[in-house]
Parts: sequence; structure tokens; C-alpha cells
Amino acid sequence: MLRKPLPQQSFLMESGRAHSPSRRQFLEAGLATAVAAAFGLPGCATTTARPAPPPLGFRAVPLSAADSFVVPEGYRAVALFAWGDPVGASAGSPAFRFDASNTAADQTLQAGMHHDGMQFYPLPYGAATATHGLLAMNHEYHDDGLLFVDGTANWSAAKVAKSMASEGVSVIEVKFEDGSWRVVRPSRFGRRITAATPCTISGPAAGADLMRTAADPSGREALGTFAGCAHGWTPWGTYLTCEENFQERFMNAGTRDALQMRDLIQPKSRYNWERGEERFDAGKHPNEPNRFGWVVEIDPYEPQAKPVKRTALGRCCHESATPSLGPDGRLAFYTGDDKVFEYIYKFVCRDKVDPVNRAANRDLLDHGTLYVARFDADGSGTWLPLVHGQGPLTAANGFRDQADVLVKTRFAADRVGATKMDRPEWIAVNEQTREVVVTLTYNADRGAKDKPGPDGPNPRVNNQLGQLVRWRETNDDPAATTFRWELLALAGDPSAKDPQWRGNFAGDAFANPDGVRFDPLGRLWVMTDVSPTRLNKGEFTLFGNNQMLAVDPQTGAFRRFLTGPVGCEITGLCFTPDGRTAFVNVQHPGEIGGETSDPKDPRKNSNWPDYRPDGRPRSATVVIRRNDGGVIGS
Ligand code: FEO
Ligand code: CA
Ligand code: CA
Ligand code: CA
Repeated sequence: MLRKPLPQQSFLMESGRAHSPSRRQFLEAGLATAVAAAFGLPGCATTTARPAPPPLGFRAVPLSAADSFVVPEGYRAVALFAWGDPVGASAGSPAFRFDASNTAADQTLQAGMHHDGMQFYPLPYGAATATHGLLAMNHEYHDDGLLFVDGTANWSAAKVAKSMASEGVSVIEVKFEDGSWRVVRPSRFGRRITAATPCTISGPAAGADLMRTAADPSGREALGTFAGCAHGWTPWGTYLTCEENFQERFMNAGTRDALQMRDLIQPKSRYNWERGEERFDAGKHPNEPNRFGWVVEIDPYEPQAKPVKRTALGRCCHESATPSLGPDGRLAFYTGDDKVFEYIYKFVCRDKVDPVNRAANRDLLDHGTLYVARFDADGSGTWLPLVHGQGPLTAANGFRDQADVLVKTRFAADRVGATKMDRPEWIAVNEQTREVVVTLTYNADRGAKDKPGPDGPNPRVNNQLGQLVRWRETNDDPAATTFRWELLALAGDPSAKDPQWRGNFAGDAFANPDGVRFDPLGRLWVMTDVSPTRLNKGEFTLFGNNQMLAVDPQTGAFRRFLTGPVGCEITGLCFTPDGRTAFVNVQHPGEIGGETSDPKDPRKNSNWPDYRPDGRPRSATVVIRRNDGGVIGS
């Protein structure tokens, strides 16, 4: 079935336009329009009519099972920033050693592993520069078999320290010169934030009983951010890392309470960090996990600024915190909880963005209303407020105050009757119409015994392939409490005979959508994350290595733009404001599915991107340009 085209979109950012808007300009333009124009945000639909996005102009690439990164004819892709490359915080930063013998101290100055959500920030701040800026990205998780010469053998506190330093966030300065992009080193912006970096806890849950620990009786400072997946950004140039599978870093060999059970904390941790830092033993430190699972705001322009955990946005396995700017100058952020049968949330700020005074927005994310989505069968939807004292969110039901509601966000969402989804991953907002698109990556438990059955936005029993759902808020106002939704596509192979594997759209086959983003021209791009346990096996040979596709604005057809090397996920897509450079992350090339790699044979599955005889696969940021310098995808 051919899906109807996505609504016509237009340029929000014009290439090369300088942005130092005066207060008068903002007043003349109207606040929301002006903020959107200045910062490239989803903005006011009342802006003057702009051209519709052009059709796609590249030839699709075929499926691939090769250990290479493939882009269409006429394009060039270069690995720019791989695990272990110095962030350039100072001159003489330690170089990556291909035998993985770098120390923990080295790792705190180098790119972490498993790059995920990424954002480009023009330099200087407030400009629309497309040739100089900062890239901020998170390092979602890591592989101890590649991180150490001898893998997990001889586990020690020093190994825990390096392992913790391989996660978190990188900020690098990048520049386009003489036809190519490079990382600027040294740079005063070069920065690593790791699982040990002090972070301020702010918002309604700061200082709450459930946030206090022996090491931090104030409940106001956590050590580190980790498991960051997808991301968000703000109009005032900050980066939002979204703490996703934090629970895998913790363990509790004793009795787990209801919250730890719902958090999915297991008797054993995935990474054995508790053998270096006792705080990861949730039996001994039951509140330590409560200090993770938040959206964390980081200022890439201020290398000394502490990251801030914004508790008002709720606590879950966050994926995305995508902004949408309303006509009244208030922002909404969309975020999903990537676990089977978990929920989609929206946070609406109480106060307006100040487009001129950056500092005035510093605590904007501490005040507002968190909602959770209910999708009804008739195509309508409702945002249900998670506010203490409203509806069932009372002391009698276990919520003493708003801090309780936020630390126990999932329980609050259960109480109000939200819709249980098939693993929400990224959420994208169209820059002009404020249309919202979410990927639901898969959920094999849908319709299983004693599990929720299929429903409107999650229509497949034993959902192996995932789907995309889109919605429009009432009056296209991000602060609205009602919306209209529809299925955009059921992933699969459009030509498959078996309906379980068939996609209901025109174009190229794909499975397990994860990353999703609109480009500066308003065209939708989709990245996939078929698990390495399934890649190129059985029915999944229909989908090859993980890939990125674009949706043609005129026909709605999906067209494959790139394929990644063996075992990787494709993620992290972001663009320069002119749309002429795309940055993409290749995450976990060579991963063999849930296990750590074999340190004796690190090249076994992939040797991308270095292909050195003494090498090992490295997650990396790839920069993509057209040979003629044109707009990506056109
Ligand atoms: Fe880390 Fe939900 O992807
Ligand atoms: Ca993801
Ligand atoms: Ca995923
Ligand atoms: Ca992943």
C-alpha cells in the first residue's frame, strides 16, 4: 500500500544567514517564529510560506552484508571521530592505541564507545554557521572485550574506572576546511563527561528522600551520566542526553523492592562496576539507581558547566527529548521509554523561552507539566498529566509528592491509564508543521499469553519488525492536551509474501526503526537497529546490515541511502544548518549479540573503520558530503 505523502515542508534555516537577532526583530516577528528562525527549531506554523521540500535525488543503495559503509554514487563518507580518538581538550592528548592498552586516565580524554544521539552546534553561538561548530554526542554503552587487551579477565578497580570512562558524552570542535571536516585539536570546547562526572540534580525530585544516598545525603549531586541514548537539544544551545538502560549498571543480589523490579535491576550487573564502586550494588545503596534514568542538560559552549539532571521530565529508560516550540513561546519535549509495553511522554515548560537572554533559560526545564500519551482506537489521543494530587496520583496510592511521581514515573503512568507501546525509540518533530513521528522498534511479546494484545498504534501480534506512528497536536500547539494520530508505516519488506514480514509502504525494505529525524528541508530520515543477534540471519536476511533511509516528500516511498558495516547500528543523524553535511554514528560495529567481543580475536566480525591488521572495530562518527557540495538527499 502506498502511504500518502508527508505534508509539504520547507526550509527553516537558510544557508549562510547570520543570526544575531535583536529584541526588536523578535518583537516584530512574533516570539515563537523568531525563536524558531534563530535556532532551527520546530516553530510557528504561521511563518510565511516557504518552498516545499524537493524530491529525493539519489539512487538507492542495495542491501549489504559487507564490512563497509556504503553511500550512494556521488557521495563521500569519511570516519571523523572514532572510539579512542582524543577530544582535544589539551595539547598532547593521548592517542588511541590499537591494542587497547590506553589507561583509564587516557580514556577520560578520548572518545567513548558506542556513539549514539548527536547534535551540531554552530560556532560562534547564535550563528547559522555550516562550516564550524561543536558536535555533542553520547556514548551509550561499551564492550569490555574490545576495551581491554585481555577483556574482562583480571577484573579490577582500574578496569572499572576505564569502563566507566568509556560511557557518557563527548563534545568536540569540528571545522570544514579545504573540502573536508576535521576535529580541531586542541580546542577549549573539547570535553568528556563520564560515568564519574559530578552532575547537579535539579527540579522537583532534587533533595527528595528517594534521591539521598550515603555519599550524597543532600540528594542534589549524582556522580556521572551513562547509558545515554538518542538525545535532545534546546533553543539556547544545550544538549540533552537521555539516560536509557541505566539499570544494567546496577545489581541487587538480595531482595528487590517494587521500584527496583520495575526498573529491571537484576541480581547481576552487566558490567561489574560494583566491583570498583560499591554504589552500583543497589542492595547496599538502594537509592543510587534513582539518580539515573533522567534527561541531563549539558552546555557544550561552556566546558566548565556541570551537567544538570532535569527531574521534571520524569524517570524511565529515556530515548529522545525532542523539542517543539509553541505559538506562545513555550517549549514541549517529547520522550519515549524504550522498554516493551512502556510509554511516550511529553513535558511542557511552564515559562516561555527568552530568545535574547540565554542565561534566562537556565532553569526552564525545572518547571512544567509532564504528560503521558493515551492513543485511542478512533485516531484521537490524550495527554494525561502526571501531577501529584490530580486523579489517582495521591498519597493513598503511594505518591507522597511530585518527587515521588517523578522518581516512580512508570507507576504513575500505569495509574492514569496510558497506552503501552512497542518500545518507543526516537521522536522527530517537523520543523514547520510540528508533526511528530515516533519509531516503535519491536515487541515480540505483543499479544503473548498474559501480555497486552494489539491495539491501534501497536497493531502487530509478535511484532518482530516495528513501525512508525505520527501525530498532530490539536491546533498544532505542542502544549495541547489532545492530538490525532495515525500509523505512518509498518516496517518490513514490501514484497514479502508472508504478512508477518511484509511492510505496508512503497520502497526499500527495512526493519526495527530506531533513529528518526527531519532534515533542514523537512524530509524524514529513518535509521535502523536490527539486533546483532538477528542481523542477516533467517528472515532478517531480507534487511541486510543496518541502514538509513529517506522518505520521498512527494510519494511517501522509503529509499535506502546508506548501509553500515557488519554488526553495527546506524544512529545519531544530524545536519549542519545548510543541509550540506550530515553526521551519522556507526555504533558497535562487529557486535556479536549480547556478549562481549573476544579480546584474542577482536577483528573476528568487523575491522571497520581502520582495517588495520592490528586493529579492532571502533564505533565512529561518519561525515557525509556530496561530491558537488550539494544538499544531502537532493
Ligand atoms: Fe539505546 Fe533504545 O536505543
Ligand atoms: Ca535507540
Ligand atoms: Ca534500538
Ligand atoms: Ca543500540
